[in-house]
Amino acid sequence: MIIALNNKCNLGKNEFIDYISKLKQYDFKNNVLLCASPLNIAMIDDNEINIGAQNVSETENGAFTGEISATQLKSYNVKYCIVGHSERRQYQNESMKCINNKIKQLIKTGITPILCIGESKEQKENGETQNYLYEEIITAVNGLTLEERERIIVAYEPIWSIGTGLIPTVNEIDNIIKYVKQFLPNNKVLYGGSANDENIEELSKSTQIDGYLLGGLSLKLDKLASFMSKIK
Ligand code: PGA
Repeated sequence: MIIALNNKCNLGKNEFIDYISKLKQYDFKNNVLLCASPLNIAMIDDNEINIGAQNVSETENGAFTGEISATQLKSYNVKYCIVGHSERRQYQNESMKCINNKIKQLIKTGITPILCIGESKEQKENGETQNYLYEEIITAVNGLTLEERERIIVAYEPIWSIGTGLIPTVNEIDNIIKYVKQFLPNNKVLYGGSANDENIEELSKSTQIDGYLLGGLSLKLDKLASFMSKIK
């Protein structure tokens, strides 16, 4: 199981120092990776926890004020990077082409992309989920070799589920993951969206989920520990 923690835009310097010292006390083993905010990445000791980022620039180093390049992330021993999170697609207007460019930068640098895909409530209700996920996947991997495609971890995160407390049924999740695997048969697929210590027993009935992308829960370490202890 891969457990990816997404702190999102949370935790100032002192809060993060406190957070990371508590996180280290749990014996979560190697399969946990922490996607911290970019300022906090510099404070993580990569001998103790795998470092992830939440975003990367579409471009290489250069005159791109405010951007953080894949090579810069790499220099801080970042091993994973979330790409195409629905919050960035929505609030930063990230296009599918932009997400494809970001994945190429990461692949080139040897950082594993965690590609987020997922449908809105409206798309689900209109029966458009599969078509939309297909478009998200195909545009994201455009121009990659088969070997490069296989380096991507996919995170299925229904938009209507993120931060809402709502989750799809296990059957729905399993069917979506099987659908994703028609195009990316050898890739790991995580589930994300309101996964917590109360629904993990239900989610653990899945035969398809390879791990979880955790937002809100990443900030509540006692509940995270309870979640980890219940994963099957
Ligand atoms: P959530 O967020 O666990 O708070 O729903 C997941 C995510 O956005 O990655």
